[in-house]
Amino acid sequence: MTAAAPLAVGTAPGKFILCGEHAVVYGRPAIAAPLFQVQARAAVYPDRECVVAAVDIQRRLRVAAAPDDEPLATIVRLVCAELGQPPPPWRIDVSSEIPIASGLGSGAAVATATARGLLAAFGVELPAERLSALVYEVEKLHHGTPSGIDNTVVVYGQPVWFVRGAPPQPFAAGAPLHLLVADTGVASPTRLAVGDVRRGWEADPGRYEALFDGVGALVTQARACIESGDAPALGALLNENQSLLAEMGVSSPELDHLVAAARQAGCLGAKLSGGGRGGNMIALVTPDKVEVVRAALQAAGAKKVMRATLGRNTNRPSHREDDAG
Ligand code: PMV
Repeated sequence: MTAAAPLAVGTAPGKFILCGEHAVVYGRPAIAAPLFQVQARAAVYPDRECVVAAVDIQRRLRVAAAPDDEPLATIVRLVCAELGQPPPPWRIDVSSEIPIASGLGSGAAVATATARGLLAAFGVELPAERLSALVYEVEKLHHGTPSGIDNTVVVYGQPVWFVRGAPPQPFAAGAPLHLLVADTGVASPTRLAVGDVRRGWEADPGRYEALFDGVGALVTQARACIESGDAPALGALLNENQSLLAEMGVSSPELDHLVAAARQAGCLGAKLSGGGRGGNMIALVTPDKVEVVRAALQAAGAKKVMRATLGRNTNRPSHREDDAG
């Protein structure tokens, strides 16, 4: 690693989907929030040519020679094209604490941090909407039909109400909502689950459209619960969402096991979060139940349990300290 100070640094948070995943690909609303406890970081240094280094996996790519579908080189090329600049003689060291293929938005966060580092080194700011559009191009390389929710929430860094193709709506909670985010430890690429849902929908569109409608209706109710601070009602909706996701075929024994453990320990509601089949689940808890539900999740085999709060400084990086762990 380089001892010299970087020219610039860019960061981006992870994210979790509160409700509405998969159905959001088919035009229904979803709600997602940033997860600042885990971040991606890109540090830019002078070099002889434009190079991106994925430092966690010790991989170094010359941007001029990288394949067209290489995500890191792609975001560098997109940012340079946006600014009308050739790739600069800089090395961008990219690192991430966000587990890959686990529903926490690692692909979008790495691309966003890289873009932010580059933009800062060029001394340019892009509107969130434009940056999100560039990161969306990279998301398409990860899975063919992304809804755009990951790039949106990671770039905006705020809880958002998201409908594909419509401007995202950041919104506020009426009272803080306490969540635990627990990792099954099973890596599950989003594109596989998204592809299976697509095949299910093609084989039986009526059944899947009804499932998506059910999700859309509960997401609309969930927003009202968040705005009014009605955590028990929101918990029931999260449970309902989990049932519909299981019917879509995207839950897994590991996810079901953590969901059951959190419910037995007294959470208000629990569900998988993100693409499913593995990755992370979330549990909505009252403040007095945080530790007992966390312990139950750990005892049930969760590889990592993080705390997140929606509605109180959720969009502030300082939130990281009180919630790490
Ligand atoms: O990237 P993940 O695993 O959090 O999944 C994103 C949410 C999906 O609805 C499953 C896919 C999408 O593009 O919205």
